[in-house]
Amino acid sequence: MSEPLLPPIGMLAELTHRCPLQCPYCSNPLELLKANRELDTQTWLDLFLQAADLGVLQVHLSGGEPTLRRDLEQLIAGLSARGVYTNLITAGVGIAEGRIEAFAEAGLDHLQLSFQGARPATTDRIGNHKGGHEKKLETARRARAAGLPLTINAPIHRHNIEEVPEFIDLALSLGAERLEIANVQYAGWALTNRDQLMPERDAVERQAEIVAAARERLTGIMNIDFVPPDYFAIYPKPCMGGWARDAFMVTPDGTVLPCHAAQTIPSLSFERFGPRSLADIWTDSPAFNAFRGTDWMQQPCRSCERREIDWGGCRCQAMAIAGDAAATDPACAKSPIHGRMAMLIDEAQRAAAVPSKDEQFVYRRIGVVTEPA
Ligand code: SF4
Ligand code: FES
Repeated sequence: MSEPLLPPIGMLAELTHRCPLQCPYCSNPLELLKANRELDTQTWLDLFLQAADLGVLQVHLSGGEPTLRRDLEQLIAGLSARGVYTNLITAGVGIAEGRIEAFAEAGLDHLQLSFQGARPATTDRIGNHKGGHEKKLETARRARAAGLPLTINAPIHRHNIEEVPEFIDLALSLGAERLEIANVQYAGWALTNRDQLMPERDAVERQAEIVAAARERLTGIMNIDFVPPDYFAIYPKPCMGGWARDAFMVTPDGTVLPCHAAQTIPSLSFERFGPRSLADIWTDSPAFNAFRGTDWMQQPCRSCERREIDWGGCRCQAMAIAGDAAATDPACAKSPIHGRMAMLIDEAQRAAAVPSKDEQFVYRRIGVVTEPA
């Protein structure tokens, strides 16, 4: 291993897979867990205590839709009592009167609200939830009234990429401190729907120019984070900051993972909280150690000057496209199969040109298990 193992800083807690929306790019696995598989309140609280002891400073409370957990106030209070920074990642529909205020009182530090579109019709169609947009606007107002800092999250794909300027206006109008323009990552349900979601090349270029100009114009007013689309990139991103390097996630049943899509790597098996402590899993789990540091790398990563910048990119993308989780992420121009990304873009664009196909999302639903594209 090229660097000493440090404690994790961040944790993503997927409290539930239940969700009122059905976004076709959801990062949850295709095989969604039902409510009866979720950890109970006390187990989450124990897990959070161990996370704080281990060094975790920030917990992102996510799902599915985390506000469907009736014990969310209790979970926030448990983290807050240990001084852990809490960020609630919500779709913002169906949150009962008074709850956002209760989250703030329990110690919530920040709220991140997703919009599927900047226009009501887009939000409602992509999330497959009528009236969703209006409910999200109301959630944003309530969060600001409760004094919570707000981030608007905009997952970008073919069907809303032209709305980027409107997303910027929307986030400003809602008093957001931050806007995240995040191009969809093709894992989970997004991999199944890749042909339908892949944007046009021209639109990707226009988007980058619009975001760069807005960042300059809004300096000191609103931060804009931009996650460009991997398939159009020259270099990959350091996925999750590097495999099991400073963050991890926990699924609703307590399985501890280095990243969202880790369970798509068939050679690895992942452990659950309970039978083993978080500290043991973080330091000793063979799956966590499989791609830590740089020793596992093949060429061209092994001798590349960027190997400790992007950590070889995304292991799950290497698995999905190269069929080898230890391969260089094909998003990298140095990958021998980088050309396959361009082919996948072209294939998707040909498929999307067939009008009926363009509309056929496989919407995320519990009980619908689909083979990845
Ligand atoms: Fe990153 Fe590997 Fe590409 Fe180098 S060869 S830029 S380390 S993915
Ligand atoms: Fe698993 Fe990128 S999603 S390493």
